[in-house]
Amino acid sequence: MIERLKQKLNDFYIVRNYKNIYKYVKPFWVRALAAILVTFPVGMMDSVIAWTLRPYMDVVMIEKNLESSWYVPILIIGFSLMQSALNYSATYLNSWVGFKISSDIKADLFKKLIHYEATFFDRNTSGTVVFKFHNDVDTACNGLLNNMKLFTTRVFSSVSLIGVLIINSWKLSIVAIIVLLAALYPLTTLRKKITDIMSKTVSSGAGIITFFSEAFNGNRIVASYNLYDYLARKFDEALKVVFTLGMKMVQRTGILSPMMHFIISIGIAAVIWMGSYLIFINDLTPGGFVSFITALLLLYQPIKSIGNDYNAMQMSMMAMERVFDLLKEEPKIQSAPDAVKINGVKKGIKYQNVCFEYVEKRPILSGINLDIKIGETVAFVGNSGGGKTTMVNLLPRFYEPKSGKILIDGIDVQKIELDSLREQIAIVFQDNFLFDGTIRENIVLGNSAAKKKQIDLAVKSACLDEFIASLDKGLDTQIGERGVLLSGGQKQRVAIARAFLKNAPIVILDEATSALDNKSEAVVQQAINNLMKDRTVLIIAHRLSTVRNADKIVVVDHGKIVEMGNHSELIQKKGTYYALYNSGLSTIS
Ligand SMILES: Nc1ncnc2c1ncn2[C@@H]1O[C@H](COP(=O)(O)OP(=O)(O)O)[C@@H](O)[C@H]1O
Ligand SMILES: [Mg+2]
Repeated sequence: MIERLKQKLNDFYIVRNYKNIYKYVKPFWVRALAAILVTFPVGMMDSVIAWTLRPYMDVVMIEKNLESSWYVPILIIGFSLMQSALNYSATYLNSWVGFKISSDIKADLFKKLIHYEATFFDRNTSGTVVFKFHNDVDTACNGLLNNMKLFTTRVFSSVSLIGVLIINSWKLSIVAIIVLLAALYPLTTLRKKITDIMSKTVSSGAGIITFFSEAFNGNRIVASYNLYDYLARKFDEALKVVFTLGMKMVQRTGILSPMMHFIISIGIAAVIWMGSYLIFINDLTPGGFVSFITALLLLYQPIKSIGNDYNAMQMSMMAMERVFDLLKEEPKIQSAPDAVKINGVKKGIKYQNVCFEYVEKRPILSGINLDIKIGETVAFVGNSGGGKTTMVNLLPRFYEPKSGKILIDGIDVQKIELDSLREQIAIVFQDNFLFDGTIRENIVLGNSAAKKKQIDLAVKSACLDEFIASLDKGLDTQIGERGVLLSGGQKQRVAIARAFLKNAPIVILDEATSALDNKSEAVVQQAINNLMKDRTVLIIAHRLSTVRNADKIVVVDHGKIVEMGNHSELIQKKGTYYALYNSGLSTIS
């Protein structure tokens, strides 16, 4: 019996996870408690009207005692006034607590989100992320508290009205209460009915948001490939799914209120029939009967809405469940507890028998062994899809090797404190992300404490000085979201200036010039040459001159290193590199 009760209680999310919830309520617990306490009187006052009707009817109307007639109207006005004031406080307090808690949770989730490993962003769409990290929190917090307010108000209003029923006639009350219980029963089966639809609704809602982000980020592609109809059609289909799910939800929940309505009507009919009889046998005064019926009619509204409120509360709880599941998840790539801080690189980098796969059982890299001495420039060449990017991405721990190790100065990167590891590495990609803001803001991301002199030097070294001098606002020019107001080469040089400011001993360049035309490539190449000076460089490049001058050339194919050496050694070997070289390196990166 107790076991079953526990089981039933466990069906309620609040019972299962009160610790999580309490953590966020704790800072505001006084207000939260006040918000709930206020609903007691708000609910109970409903019964005052019904309750006062009995003496009013019996004394004023039946006994015609006019002297006592003044107090009922005054009572009603006074109580309604108080009820309104308390109602306002309840709404205010609830919203306040709800907003505060949802802000706190969102802040925590956002921190978590930005720390997630690359795999997380490979797996999740932007829609899912917005939904889980933003919308769900709103549904959970604001919904939960507001619905809880309505729910508790209604419960107290019901309880006090039931009190009025019993005071007037316990016999009639038995009938009324049986009917009410019958009307409430369907609610208990609700959770089971809607759980699966809810989770489908969430994922299809997330799908809709992804459409918007794709329409936004991919608008050039959409225009150039004339994808309007295609996208609109796909969006229509997604909307249809949402529609179907929404209607299914209505089918399963919408029936509750009408059902309760019907059962309660039967109850009222039964009460009127039986009440008339009780008056006839003098078991009930006419005033008592009127009071009873009034209470019963007033009871009808809260009981009927308890269905909807409970329903809404369940949805908030489910959202809360998803939010807390998310909060429980830890980013997989973190500093180890015994991690060491490093400050600079003294000897070099070593890949030791590194194997890697993005998807289980589909090896991308196998048996990678590589030694990079400090100050060396290592060029990676090979056919597209061979694994070059993957190989360099393992160094800053964007991903973890499946087996094998990567060492910096003899320390496994997994044992190096993550921040200090990434502090040592500056990366310039083929496509660099710029944030909405000014050129200056984007450059100083590399080192927020940079002085004017350092910034000027970085700008000059990145060959940006002429371009910036030509701008009215110079460094303080807005670049537009994602840097759309800059050309490809200018964006690339902003990214290089950022890397300069970071002044990291290791530089990774992943096809930093391959998206550019010849003219802008030459300038960017100059900037890159400046950046490479006196640093340890891992460069994935298609330009012959860059590759030829490297201290070491690593030829990668199908996830393996097939050749390694400097330019003349590899040419003499007449192997893969020789073939690539003759076919004109620039076509194959
Ligand atoms: N995020 C990812 N998730 C799954 N597979 C990936 C991912 N990135 C790259 N791959 C796959 O890994 C292989 C190597 O890719 P990559 O390292 O980018 O090659 P390269 O830089 O030499 O062109 C390719 O087959 C590619 O499809
Ligand atoms: Mg690549």
